[in-house]
Amino acid sequence: VSRELEATALGLPLYKRLKAAIETAILSNVLKAGAVLPGERVLADTLQLSRVTVRKALALLEEEGFLNRRHGFKTEVGSRVEKSLATLTSFSEDIIARGLVPGCVWLSKQISRPSPTEMMALGVAGNSNVVRMKRIRTADGVPIAVEISAVPVRFLPSAEMVKDSLYDALEARGFLPQRAIQRMRSRAASAEDAQHLHCDPGAPLLMTERRCFLADGQIVEYCESRYKGDVYDFVFELQR
Ligand code: GLP
Repeated sequence: VSRELEATALGLPLYKRLKAAIETAILSNVLKAGAVLPGERVLADTLQLSRVTVRKALALLEEEGFLNRRHGFKTEVGSRVEKSLATLTSFSEDIIARGLVPGCVWLSKQISRPSPTEMMALGVAGNSNVVRMKRIRTADGVPIAVEISAVPVRFLPSAEMVKDSLYDALEARGFLPQRAIQRMRSRAASAEDAQHLHCDPGAPLLMTERRCFLADGQIVEYCESRYKGDVYDFVFELQR
């Protein structure tokens, strides 16, 4: 953190620089979810900052969900999940990378005719079959997303082949997605989303739609996901 602190913009107030330094350490996984931070006084002494500066930085980080304060004294790194938008990873991989245990609660898993949206997205005919999977995705048992995936049966003949990870099942069949196009937008939680995600109806969600391709261009999956806005960060790397 002290190295990061030196690297932050000098023009900013000290507490903002400290906040940015701790945030970088969390986002780069140097400080992992669940790690306990030293107390305010120890931090202030070690970093040679005032306790007021430390307190203000920690309060901001807590407000943004990066830190959790327990019983007023222990400060832990929170478990926001960070998802890079440049790499094609599965939900399970993202959660494991954050040091948490992925899981899913199945809402339905069946073979059916594609919906009009799925027909368009997958490029399949109305009389074809897809495996449609609707599930609540969890991290350490806490629900953080609802996903509906559709995969043409030629890639996945039976829904029973998917245990917890769809990509594991596709990989086992030699159909691991290699490329995807993803659209992201905001959406308010419906009454059903709210029930699944333990949030209030109308709470902000991040909705993504993803079309996945195999190396030869075949479309293997269409998925609509709704992530709880307060636990999922999407991270972009931009280059000119
Ligand atoms: C992400 C994607 C989905 C994909 C899922 C696979 O959540 N948005 O399109 O189906 O990952 O994850 P898993 O292999 O854990 O089922």
